[in-house]
Amino acid sequence: MELATIKEFAKAVLAEDATGHDWQHAVRVEENARNICPPSLTEQEIESVRAACWLHDTIDEKLAAASRQTPATIAALLRDNGATVEQTKQILFIIQNLSYSKNIEQKITLDAVGQIVQDADRLDAIGAIGIARAFYYGGSQGDALYNAEKARTASELTAANYRDNTSVLNHFYEKLFHLKDQMNTTAGREEAERRTLFMEEFIGEFYREMNHKN
Ligand code: ADP
Ligand code: NI
Repeated sequence: MELATIKEFAKAVLAEDATGHDWQHAVRVEENARNICPPSLTEQEIESVRAACWLHDTIDEKLAAASRQTPATIAALLRDNGATVEQTKQILFIIQNLSYSKNIEQKITLDAVGQIVQDADRLDAIGAIGIARAFYYGGSQGDALYNAEKARTASELTAANYRDNTSVLNHFYEKLFHLKDQMNTTAGREEAERRTLFMEEFIGEFYREMNHKN
């Protein structure tokens, strides 16, 4: 695969995003993926992991309509840049099915490549970067830092109400603290547990300050 061309394409598509799904997010996801890749992966599979990481948000509903791509455009990009028919199908399936919202009410089974990409994307939603992205995203949507009247638990979250935001603080309880239990790979789970401890410490301090315990 012509990975350099695919990377440049994704960079151009994601350049304008201001909701935390920008090009730097895609770069971190690709780096996370390389860190959790098991040695059993073939060269072809590693190529698919890298291309899927860079492209994973280019067709996402959160992206501004002007930059959002269609699956057909991504398929053509991949085919034009040396991906096999199988790799093209594989990457398209992954980027259309890895998101949290797609997996709330059903659990879509991804192949080994997809499981790595999904873990890598989830890792970028937790830890210090995850905290930063949650507040950044909430700000971009006009959400409050916290709002006791809009509490929602993880089990109350549905595909339909996922975009009906509560508050940034509540997002930790409805989603971010639970990601570590949904990781696919051992290496991904270990890193997720470390990052979650850091988030718990942060939220503990957040409540302490909110309740003026100083
Ligand atoms: P996924 O790609 O798993 O579907 P999203 O694209 O919905 O997840 O979310 C990606 C990033 O945006 C994450 O870092 C997440 O924390 C943040 N985010 C999504 N929804 C909210 C929300 N309601 N409040 C705060 N942050 C959010
Ligand atoms: Ni993402």
